[in-house]
Amino acid sequence: MATLEEEKSQTWQLVATLILAIVIYDQIRYLYRKGSIAGPRFKIPLVGPFLQALHPRFEAYLAQWASGPLSCVSVFHKFIVLASDRDLAHKVFKSPGYAEPCIVPLAKDLLGHKAWVFLQGRAHAEYRRGLTPLFTNRAMASYLPAQEQVVGEYCKKLVAASAANDGQPREFMTLFRELNCALSCRTFFGDYISQDAVQRIADDFYLVTAALELVNMPFSLYIPYTKPWRGKKIADAVHAEFAQCAAACKANLAAGGTPSCIVDHWVLHMMESERYRARVAAGETEAEKPSNLIRMFSDEEIGETLFTFLFASQDASSSATTWLFQILAQRPDVLDRVRAENLAARAGDRSKPFDLPMLEALPYTNAVIKELLRHRPPVIFVPYQTTKPFPLTADYTVPRGAMVIPSCYPALHDPAVYPDPDVFDPDRWLSGDAEAQTRNWLVFGAGPHDCLARRYVPLSMAGMIGKVALELDWTHHETPTSEEIRVFATLFPMDGCQLVFTTRR
Ligand code: HEM
Repeated sequence: MATLEEEKSQTWQLVATLILAIVIYDQIRYLYRKGSIAGPRFKIPLVGPFLQALHPRFEAYLAQWASGPLSCVSVFHKFIVLASDRDLAHKVFKSPGYAEPCIVPLAKDLLGHKAWVFLQGRAHAEYRRGLTPLFTNRAMASYLPAQEQVVGEYCKKLVAASAANDGQPREFMTLFRELNCALSCRTFFGDYISQDAVQRIADDFYLVTAALELVNMPFSLYIPYTKPWRGKKIADAVHAEFAQCAAACKANLAAGGTPSCIVDHWVLHMMESERYRARVAAGETEAEKPSNLIRMFSDEEIGETLFTFLFASQDASSSATTWLFQILAQRPDVLDRVRAENLAARAGDRSKPFDLPMLEALPYTNAVIKELLRHRPPVIFVPYQTTKPFPLTADYTVPRGAMVIPSCYPALHDPAVYPDPDVFDPDRWLSGDAEAQTRNWLVFGAGPHDCLARRYVPLSMAGMIGKVALELDWTHHETPTSEEIRVFATLFPMDGCQLVFTTRR
């Protein structure tokens, strides 16, 4: 009969053998899934590069992209394939039959389990078709007066923030996040949203991003004061606020109000569609079909959809704004030309508000914005997940259930397409051939999920930078980490962008 000691030792042997078997199985599975593509020759047992995933470094992404057109890593059970090659990235973006956008599980709790961005295939395409008309020229022109007002308010806040800091440099990334949040809230909801609510959302919204780390403690959504718990609290409050705004919008339009914000245009289309359906039901054969025939959405659904807009825009727009201010301060030659162009467009009257024709007739300012989005693309890649084995090349099939990540950055920094890609050179859009390189322009993704706001973003950035450039001066204070890139959902300067703003005389 085995003694107690022997039994203990047998148990340990069994446990050790089991762990070893799992490690070997995991290693073999990794090598099998890796196949011929680039990637570590062995996986760190079970966990993979988990610690690096917790604190992603931009340089690590650069190295990974440089390792091959397709490369892989495996973190825990997850197998991840990165596509750095432009054409392979396009293939992932445009293969909805094989891969769909992949969001961290918590995103559904924050955005809403039924939010439209989680729809796929026809259901997604149909929902999206109803939203596309919110970004036509006519609709966008009506959003600009509210944007002009927000930018005006933030010109004062930027100067006040520097004055409160005794004219010493301080980080401005936080205030740029706030500015973008305010811009979005007013563009989405006009005056239906109170100044208090805008301020509250602007103050808190970064907690929603912070909640969506790649890896979170299990059940942390329910554990008070964890990041996910805080993020969910903020998200719930914003959902409720947005639903109230939707109700106010319906009441205003029913009373004959004219559309001046995104929700106005959307609800107007719902109302026109209702009227059309009523006329058809009443037997009218001549009723004119509205161009955007959609169903009536509840206040909560409208709030939820506009929340997805805020979520999609907030980090990317804040990243772009932060780099724009940093780079323009470093490049007075560029800023001077932006100022001169914007002043000329206002016939010398710098207080003249911007409008759509003006923003479309600013070739240099638009070149600066395109170059900024190319030079420092806010979204460097977009995670997708395969729904079945995905034959990405003749030699390699991404396994089902793997993450496959089309990268935007390498195509935007390809020296064969954009010579000296690390140099910020707006003129490449005017006298060079950058404009013709549409296949490399992956700033807004591609395919059925590409950014709904790809035309709206440059327009609203042009409005913002033109006005601020005419009203304010600002200087950048170089620190050892100004050019180091921090990855917080999108890219930011590591030191938070150290600036000083003053009013321009
Ligand atoms: C600098 C600013 C922005 C950048 C760089 C950016 C970039 C992107 C990218 C790369 C995607 C994923 C595309 C894909 O999977 O193919 C995306 C999706 C999306 N973006 Fe943007 N975006 C910006 C601002 C905005 C703004 C201001 C809004 C709304 C007003 C917005 C709304 C959306 C939506 C709704 C989606 C998901 C579309 C879908 O799934 O059908 N984005 N964006």
